[in-house]
Amino acid sequence: MTFVNDLISRNFSRSGQHVLVAGVSLATVAERFGTPVFVYDAGVLDRKLTSLRAALPGSFEISYSVKANPNKAILRRFVAKGCGLEIASGGEYQLASDAGCPFDRVVFAGPGKTESELELVLAKGIGELHVESLVEIDRLARLCHRLGATVNVALRINPTGEAEGGAMRMGGRATPFGVDEESADVLVDHLAASPALRLTGVHLFTGTQILDHEILLRQYQKGMAIAASVARRVKRPLATVDFGGGLGIPYFPHERELDLESLGQGLARLMESSGKESVFNGTTFLLEPGRFLTAEAGIFMARVTDVKTSRGKTFVILDGGMNCHLAASGNLGQTIKRNYPIAVVNRIEDPIGVTADVVGPLCTPLDTLGRNVELPRPEVGDLVGIFQSGAYGLTASPVHFLSHPSPAEVMIDAGIAHLIRARGALTNLS
Ligand SMILES: Cc1ncc(COP(=O)(O)O)c(C=O)c1O
Repeated sequence: MTFVNDLISRNFSRSGQHVLVAGVSLATVAERFGTPVFVYDAGVLDRKLTSLRAALPGSFEISYSVKANPNKAILRRFVAKGCGLEIASGGEYQLASDAGCPFDRVVFAGPGKTESELELVLAKGIGELHVESLVEIDRLARLCHRLGATVNVALRINPTGEAEGGAMRMGGRATPFGVDEESADVLVDHLAASPALRLTGVHLFTGTQILDHEILLRQYQKGMAIAASVARRVKRPLATVDFGGGLGIPYFPHERELDLESLGQGLARLMESSGKESVFNGTTFLLEPGRFLTAEAGIFMARVTDVKTSRGKTFVILDGGMNCHLAASGNLGQTIKRNYPIAVVNRIEDPIGVTADVVGPLCTPLDTLGRNVELPRPEVGDLVGIFQSGAYGLTASPVHFLSHPSPAEVMIDAGIAHLIRARGALTNLS
């Protein structure tokens, strides 16, 4: 069974030639809502969250990382199921608010937070602000003084040593994220001199798309040691230790699913050993997964507008490309360009008839969603689905490039399709 067929069997279903999402055929979705479109299966979102929760020790909480997919329907779903949210901008704070997330369940990370963003969260409330530099600490202290506010802060620490294994590394080397472990003590002391900033936690996040539980566990172990040293320096336990996101999902045939059971067992052992230290009395441990919770639930679907050959090579041209789904084109940080899982979702039973490049409508060779993809011989009007597309899809794409309307988003929940973002509905100034 090919990788894409395997994914369809695992998360979706088939009826004749058609792929069904939560009981609704993708052809029906295309008919009703048009293309290009992102389609999400609410049941898959729920299943991912439930499986992660079941694996984690009781002292863990989950804060969904909004940047992976900020659609309000998705935020609302996770919030309703008890997740907090991790945000990285004033805009994401507004989305968290609109989704009904209590402000004390919101944590705010990211470099370069502006005065107006900080003012907003100080005025309305925030669970924890992840401070990432000396400049930021001073900016926050000044604002707190001016507004008569106090705030819980977590120091984001960039650990020493290479954090191996992730597709994109945010720590373990020179980065703009957080403060280097080597200078953490200086920053902790600096924070102690600003009483309006209560140091309640430590935040670490070193890489995304990690599929090896051993690598994650090594990072968490290192995080525990760093957090213990911060707690000893401030002479009290920390309220939170936040290990960030980074849990991966398989995109390519050689990749295996993250072994959640082993991850959970390793975390239980880690809690058993270091978690029992007095510096962790009453500490809540946080994970901020984005991709893990949403990627598998989403399919990007576009319609074939042309099929042509050039010098012996077949090109299948879709009505949406990297303008809708930059990550699938390999231009969002992939060093080796590999194809996301692709299928013709209205002719799923047809035999392979062609090896083609699947491209979007933009006038740039970068707009290639699949290279040398084996497909049934496609025809104009066919529907192409790109799987594993629920995270870093629309939100991470240059939708204004070439001024096509942005794609719609549809969530299918127990057999009912809901339009959760209309086509072209991105913020416009006029
Ligand atoms: C601070 C922070 N937390 C969480 C995440 C989510 O990461 P992932 O989608 O790999 O779980 C990111 C992603 O960049 C991040 O920067």
